[in-house]
Amino acid sequence: MAQQVGQLKAFILGLCGALVLAPVAQAQTAAEPVVAGYARTLPVVAKNGMVVAQEAEAARIGVDVLKRGGNAVDAAVATAFAMAVTLPRAGNLGGGGFMLVHLASQKKTIAIDYREVAPAAMTKEIFLDAAGKFVPEKAQASGLGVGVPGTVAGLYLAHQKYGSGKIEFGELVRPAMLLARDGIVARGDLLTSLQEVKARLDKWPATRAVFQNKDGSALREGDILVQADLATTLWRIFQRGPQGFYEGETAERIVNAVRNAGGIMGTDDLRDYKAVEREVVRGTYRGREIVSMPPPSSGGVHIVQLLNILEGYDLKKSGANSAQTIHLMTEAMKLAYADREKYLGDPDFVKNPVTGLTSKKYADDLRKRIDPERATPSKDIRAGDPLPYESDQTTHFSVIDKDGNAVANTYTLNFSYGLGLIAAGTGIMLNNELDDFAATVGAPNAFGLMGGDANAPGARKRPLSSMSPTMVFKDGQLDLITGSPGGSRIITTVLQVISNIIDHGMNVAEASEAVRVHHQLYPDELRVERGLSPDTISLLEKKGHTVREQKAMGSTQTIQRVNDEIQGAADTRQTGTAAIGY
Ligand code: GLY
Repeated sequence: MAQQVGQLKAFILGLCGALVLAPVAQAQTAAEPVVAGYARTLPVVAKNGMVVAQEAEAARIGVDVLKRGGNAVDAAVATAFAMAVTLPRAGNLGGGGFMLVHLASQKKTIAIDYREVAPAAMTKEIFLDAAGKFVPEKAQASGLGVGVPGTVAGLYLAHQKYGSGKIEFGELVRPAMLLARDGIVARGDLLTSLQEVKARLDKWPATRAVFQNKDGSALREGDILVQADLATTLWRIFQRGPQGFYEGETAERIVNAVRNAGGIMGTDDLRDYKAVEREVVRGTYRGREIVSMPPPSSGGVHIVQLLNILEGYDLKKSGANSAQTIHLMTEAMKLAYADREKYLGDPDFVKNPVTGLTSKKYADDLRKRIDPERATPSKDIRAGDPLPYESDQTTHFSVIDKDGNAVANTYTLNFSYGLGLIAAGTGIMLNNELDDFAATVGAPNAFGLMGGDANAPGARKRPLSSMSPTMVFKDGQLDLITGSPGGSRIITTVLQVISNIIDHGMNVAEASEAVRVHHQLYPDELRVERGLSPDTISLLEKKGHTVREQKAMGSTQTIQRVNDEIQGAADTRQTGTAAIGY
């Protein structure tokens, strides 16, 4: 509910007891950050540290943590909590995600998996009707699609194991709690995104109560959005850590909301949730080392696979976004998405052929299937056989600190605002992540992605993701931190940022701005952002591609280390993004 700022204050003040509260105005009047639009082709430059995120206030909060002596993980935790308040369409407590943590002193990179998990009562057929046909509404618009949220557990694990030890977990929750209590100014992306999904949100009275004014009118530019229940939930986390979320009143309210929406989650599902560490996926590209997220994300595996295929071509010579470069990338993308469909799923349930899929020899085989002159129709593409070699939604932010520790974090509710349902009394927006399972063979999910048994729904299983927080290393030193939202387009977006930098010598701002293309096998169309020249499109069509222009893809938040400098670029495809350094 958009309320007068003071109304809630007494309530939370009562709850907060001895807390030292920041002045209300602080969040709103912070010095204007160096926003991405400022730097379309020039990166933002800093000496000590940087946060690049899709929402400026949350990025500023992360930088404040760095300035107070926190490390990159501390800053990432504070930024992630803040974005649950300031970017409610993707920042979250009610969703899940993946975090890569690089520890400079140990030269070690860790992958934290805090993806949502299906409840214990999940069955393989849950999203089908009596005739065995996929019913998208079950996965996308009912409580059945809600996975057990992982964000709070993931951020806690990151802080406990890899934080600096100088800043308490609660202190990193506090700025978010204050923003929820005091309110944020409604503007830009918040208003646009609420308008875009109005019909979906209005379905749920508890959600309407948060995002409407008291008189039922929609939020307008300049209104203050207070999220009182969310402040209370954050207060419980502030006091009790993850227990304040996964047990007690918050957990009970989440379960009630999910069940009232037709779901099957129980309080035991929340109590049992665990974020886990996984081995990162590694590859190389033209002498750089690529480190990315392993299953249950498909992102890292396919980024490495795609780079392996592309390494066999002289992309520098064929040129950035030339018809020939786009053709080769597209044909590689189709092969990768064919494999994605067949092989990948939750590693706790299925054996993922990661080594095979990421091997250079397998890429050599796949390259032979690419006709350098003609597009191969998707219907003629089958998954390869990696086994012989076997030995507009999500949001990403990147962080680096003064010691070279770094975080690449991508987290999500799946759709913009997830299911659209706020669990009454908690302020927590719930995800509809379980649509990322392959409900049945041949049935595409909301992103048009298909899959097989490896990614079938199952009790306590994690659905396959495309989220790809990624780091690149040069001569053993951290070079690049990147990632993006965009559902099925995340993988290809991250791929192009890496290629733009390594193959075409672009800086991070140029690499982020360049026109993006995407192919995911089905539908058999090459999607291109506006701005690709008609000549290039015509050449691609002559090669047999069906080209479809579409609006912006992805929102990359990228940092590169160049000599002693930190260079950052927040994607200008969304409003409100920021690269803030110090
Ligand atoms: N929900 C989109 C993804 O995880 O890939």
